[in-house]
Amino acid sequence: MIISPSILSADFANLERDIKRVEENGADWIHVDVMDGHFVPNITIGIPVTAALKRIASVPLDVHLMIDNPEKYARDFIKAGANILTFHYEAMKSDEEVLNLIRLIKSFGIKAGLSIKPKTAPGKILPFLNEVNLLLVMTVEPGFGGQKFMEDCAEKIKVIRKNAPSTLIIQVDGGINADTGRICRDFGADSLVAGSYIYKSADIKSAINSLKV
Ligand code: DX5
Ligand code: ZN
Repeated sequence: MIISPSILSADFANLERDIKRVEENGADWIHVDVMDGHFVPNITIGIPVTAALKRIASVPLDVHLMIDNPEKYARDFIKAGANILTFHYEAMKSDEEVLNLIRLIKSFGIKAGLSIKPKTAPGKILPFLNEVNLLLVMTVEPGFGGQKFMEDCAEKIKVIRKNAPSTLIIQVDGGINADTGRICRDFGADSLVAGSYIYKSADIKSAINSLKV
C-alpha cells in the first residue's frame, strides 16, 4: 500500500518539519493539494510552494490538481517537481482533451493521474484506464480536509479494478483512517491519501502503519 500523507493538514508555518515527520515514519509519497477557488471553493498551494516542497522532500511529490484548465498549468507543476500529476476528469471539456493531457504528462517521464469526484460514475473514465498510471477516487467532495468518508464512492474501486490493467495504481482520497482504509484495500486500492488522520494523530508512526496493513 502506497501511503501519501496530505500536507493540507500539516502546519503551513512548519512544512519542512512536517514533511520530515511523515517521511521518517513511513510515508511513501507526499500528497500536495492544489486548489484554485474555481474548481473547488478553496485556495491552497500553487507552483512556487510546490517547487519549495521539492527542495525539502526526499520522497516523490504526488500533486493533486483541483483546478480548472489543468492543461494550462501542467507543465509548470512538472517543472516545479511533481513526480505524479493528477488532474480531474470534471475539469476537462472533452474526452479527447483528457487523453491529450494524460499523454502530455507522461511525455515528461512522470506518472499521469486522473481523478473523479463523488458524483462522477466510474463508467466515464473506463476508456482511460489503459492510458493513465494512477486513478484517484475521491471519497469526499474535493475542497477541504477532515470530511467524512463516503463508502458508496469507494465502491467504484471494484469496478475500476475489474476493468484496469494490474499496473494501474488506484488511489483513494478523503476521510481515510485505519477503518476506511481497510475498506478501500479490500475493494482493491493500492494507495491511500490521508491528511487529518495522520497529522492530527498523537503518534504519526502508528497512524501511518495502521494504513499499511
Ligand atoms: C480534499 C483533498 C484531500 C484532503 C484529505 O479535497 O483532496 O487530499 O487533504 O484530507 P482528509 O484525509 O482529512 O480527508
Ligand atoms: Zn487530495
